[in-house]
Amino acid sequence: MYSRDHWKSKLGFILAAVGSAVGLGNIWKFPYVVGKNGGSAFIAIYLACVILVGIPILIVEIYLGKKSQLNPVGAFRFFQKGKVPFSLIGYAGVLCGIIILSYYSVITGWICHYLMLSFRGFSGSETEISEIFTALNANPWLNIAWHTFVMAAVMMILAKGVRKGIEAASKILMPMLGVLLLVLVCYSLTLDGMKEAWRFLTYPDFSRVTGSSFLEALGTSFFTLSLGMGAMITYGSYLKGEVNITKSAVQIASIDTLIAFLSGIVIFPIVFTNNLEPSAGPGLIFKTLPVLFSKMPGGHIVSIAFFALVLFAAITSAISLLEVATSFMVDEYKCSRTKAVLIMGTVIWLLGILSAVSYWNVAGTPFLDLFDKIASCYMLPLGGLCSALVFGWAISKKQKYSEIGSKPINKILLFAAKYISPVLLLLVFIKEIGLF
Ligand code: TRP
Repeated sequence: MYSRDHWKSKLGFILAAVGSAVGLGNIWKFPYVVGKNGGSAFIAIYLACVILVGIPILIVEIYLGKKSQLNPVGAFRFFQKGKVPFSLIGYAGVLCGIIILSYYSVITGWICHYLMLSFRGFSGSETEISEIFTALNANPWLNIAWHTFVMAAVMMILAKGVRKGIEAASKILMPMLGVLLLVLVCYSLTLDGMKEAWRFLTYPDFSRVTGSSFLEALGTSFFTLSLGMGAMITYGSYLKGEVNITKSAVQIASIDTLIAFLSGIVIFPIVFTNNLEPSAGPGLIFKTLPVLFSKMPGGHIVSIAFFALVLFAAITSAISLLEVATSFMVDEYKCSRTKAVLIMGTVIWLLGILSAVSYWNVAGTPFLDLFDKIASCYMLPLGGLCSALVFGWAISKKQKYSEIGSKPINKILLFAAKYISPVLLLLVFIKEIGLF
């Protein structure tokens, strides 16, 4: 008889969930989005989004998983009322995970490439260094090789199971990530640009905040918390017994936000010390930072530490993305974990090749950008909205209180999940499809 694997300890669950949440979104995306939107004013909006939408939806997802003890498809079917097939939301989630991981793995491959280069050290003129990125992009075979390497590593970890694979990997990688981040923060504190960076991160400049800043803040918080496609439903389904869901959600969201903020503290002083534009955009960590690493004292070590940090963060997130599809296969088709990992991993690997070959495109948009747009702009907010609606309207208060508790704080968060989050998510969605 098949029995569901569970987390060994609560700490194991928290580390795995934080591992899923902390990823490229925190270290690569958050700093440049903050830069683009004028620093600390944007951070305030971001915090509001985490509290009003992120934490409530995190509670919703963990609840749906823990209560049903099933993958996202099974979980939504479990709560079905009437004829509307709730399981479709779960299917969309599984598909979304497949799409995100296909390009996430390619980007993680770039990080591996830069980590390897860091061991040799970056040298040469600015143009020569930024050429490295252009050359990497123009080389499909190299991209496919790294993508294959990343997928193989993720599949090997997952094949070992929830406890021995995901939990064990998170228990090693997350503390290492914490240490590396602190080392880098200490380093950044010694730089001249720290004063300016601190001012940028704490002194609000509301003039750069626009209407779209709100939506960008909500979208970014959703992505960095791994919400909207069932990753947290899946991780929640490996919980059993007494667990304080609210407390766990608050812990996960706080650590995720803290790490995003600390990444800003690492990156902005380097940027300001060298008179770079904080809004340099997505190329920041690949094109600009290596130039600085090549010039600054001790840059060799700093760059190894930096890319290792990003790599650990990305691997633990990739694990959670593949686990959604894996648990779906295991629960729904009763196949063995190894087989599920092999089948889904291969499908994602094949799909990822489209993103790895950078000159393949759809009407001028490379697949990587296209997939990112479809998944993170449309599918995630829609998935979050559906989860909030199912939780808010198809599950009785009594059922919710029995699992989550009925203390005032829980009541407030459940209110937010039922009314505030869906409205805000609906706004994001309407904005994305261009209705206003
Ligand atoms: N949260 C991760 C990051 O910040 C990415 C990620 C992992 C993710 N699993 C997810 C995003 C599920 C959305 C949904 O990089």
